[in-house]
Amino acid sequence: MNVVQPQTERELPPALIQTLTRAKRIVTLTGAGISAESGLPTFRDKLTGLWTNYNPAQLATSEAFLREPDLVWGWYKWRESQMLAAKPNAGHYALAKMETQFPRFDLLTQNVDNLHERAGSASPFHLHGELTKPRCFDCGTLNAILPPMISPEPEGGRRINPPKCTQCGGLIRPGVVWFGEPLPEATFDAAVTLADACDVFLCVGTSSLVHPAAELPISAKRNGAILCIINIEKTPLDRHSEFVLRGSTSSILPLIVNAMYRTNATWP
Ligand code: OAD
Repeated sequence: MNVVQPQTERELPPALIQTLTRAKRIVTLTGAGISAESGLPTFRDKLTGLWTNYNPAQLATSEAFLREPDLVWGWYKWRESQMLAAKPNAGHYALAKMETQFPRFDLLTQNVDNLHERAGSASPFHLHGELTKPRCFDCGTLNAILPPMISPEPEGGRRINPPKCTQCGGLIRPGVVWFGEPLPEATFDAAVTLADACDVFLCVGTSSLVHPAAELPISAKRNGAILCIINIEKTPLDRHSEFVLRGSTSSILPLIVNAMYRTNATWP
């Protein structure tokens, strides 16, 4: 484990840049930390984390939705309004650039926001669903046409009745994975295949506490990948990783992309 706090390109471990530019496949898994500098709260920050301030048992389970659909729908409408007001940051843009310039790059995200797409990433694998893809609780029909957000929702949301499904009349639910629910099967299967085939796995802005997503880097490592963590804090994966870069994703990812660009003359 090689822990560094790079402030400049020169302070990046040369072995990391060499490994990245020579890699046949790079997989990156992002978490809420990458969107934190866009103003979206993470889940486990001691002060501002969503699960520090709100009870997931009341907001993020199917039982909660059936009990109080207006409370749950209104809370996710607030999160959606935060997402729409936020802009991608340098970390999102750096990963989008990596994808366009390095052909064998795949992006997995636990984030339900659309900041990767808005930064230019073509089709990130959304392991935990997407706020922009609400669907019917009963029949599963996608109901992706969101009514325009006229004004920001109040902090923490307000009670709003969810719309009804045009197919079956069931309640429309947020398009995210809740506690106790499986991840979208095809997406997770694709993520496992990519993780197991890559030779570098970057874990970016995630606490690596939530399973099964947290198993992807371990599985990649077991299959021979080099692991690199980018985080402002320690994570349980640090001790399994060859490279630990301590600092914000918005400062470190652009350093990495620039260093890769300089090192690999075949990039456009
Ligand atoms: P967490 O809140 O668990 O962790 C966020 C991580 O980002 C922490 O390790 C922070 O240290 C780090 N971090 C914060 N700001 C950062 C920055 N500017 N630069 C780098 N790192 C930073 O969020 P996730 O790991 O995404 O699931 O949580 C995983 C899942 O738990 C979420 O997808 C969500 C939640 O329950 C669902 O909603 C299904």
